[in-house]
Amino acid sequence: MNQAVNQAANPQDNPAEQVIIALDCPREEAMSLAQQLKGAAHWLKVGMTLYYAAGPSIVSELKEMGYRVFIDLKLHDIPHQVKGAAASVVKAGADMLTVHGCGGAAMLKAAAEGAEQGTAERAEQGHKPLLLAITVLTSMDELTLKQVGVSRELEVQVESLALLATEAGLDGVVASPQEAQSLRTLLGDEAVIVTPGIRPSGAAIDDQSRIATPAQALQNGASHLVIGRPITAAQDPKAAFLAILDEIRRA
Ligand code: C5P
Repeated sequence: MNQAVNQAANPQDNPAEQVIIALDCPREEAMSLAQQLKGAAHWLKVGMTLYYAAGPSIVSELKEMGYRVFIDLKLHDIPHQVKGAAASVVKAGADMLTVHGCGGAAMLKAAAEGAEQGTAERAEQGHKPLLLAITVLTSMDELTLKQVGVSRELEVQVESLALLATEAGLDGVVASPQEAQSLRTLLGDEAVIVTPGIRPSGAAIDDQSRIATPAQALQNGASHLVIGRPITAAQDPKAAFLAILDEIRRA
């Protein structure tokens, strides 16, 4: 099993292992950012917009530059389809991937089987990707949940889906920094908890609402942070990334 990816589940001793930079932009800009961040950043996140436009080759290009890649496609379909998709995403080179927890236990187990199958079949031997569940999207509130037939409290829904996912064999969840604390208590020390909605002190909030600083999110129990625009929209993305690492070290 890959040492670096193993360490990623417990990366507290190296903040560079904890920060995943979201490349929410077209291919050319993504490759330019990857060049600028080379040698400093360890993790990049490729979401739907970039992956669907650029295809799996974007992942191999980033990996050839030495990055680990979080492919965030939030899979959700019948178990057979999700098993195949998870295998494909892992074969494309994912070191971390996501599925929707609300797809249910059978779908989550199928995703875990697919990830395992993809790991065995891909050329890059020995890497075990981290498979994470999306619980409730932070864009949803209790009213939105009710509209889709979920009447229990949002926090209860988040915790139930997180347990369903880890019981199905997933490595952890993506959650808001506010949910990280209760999820850490619920899921234990080993679980991977990835939090977006991170803004360094003094940074623009953009369209995020429930935000935390990098240090707050880590103190709340996050193992990894997803940070996009505070780094990618900075005049000097590498300097912005390094300043975030400093802020984490100082906390
Ligand atoms: O630019 P910013 O730091 O806001 O980017 C956050 C990243 O995290 C984006 O890729 C966004 O899609 C992702 N994300 C999020 N909120 C969630 C789940 C994912 O902002 N609940």
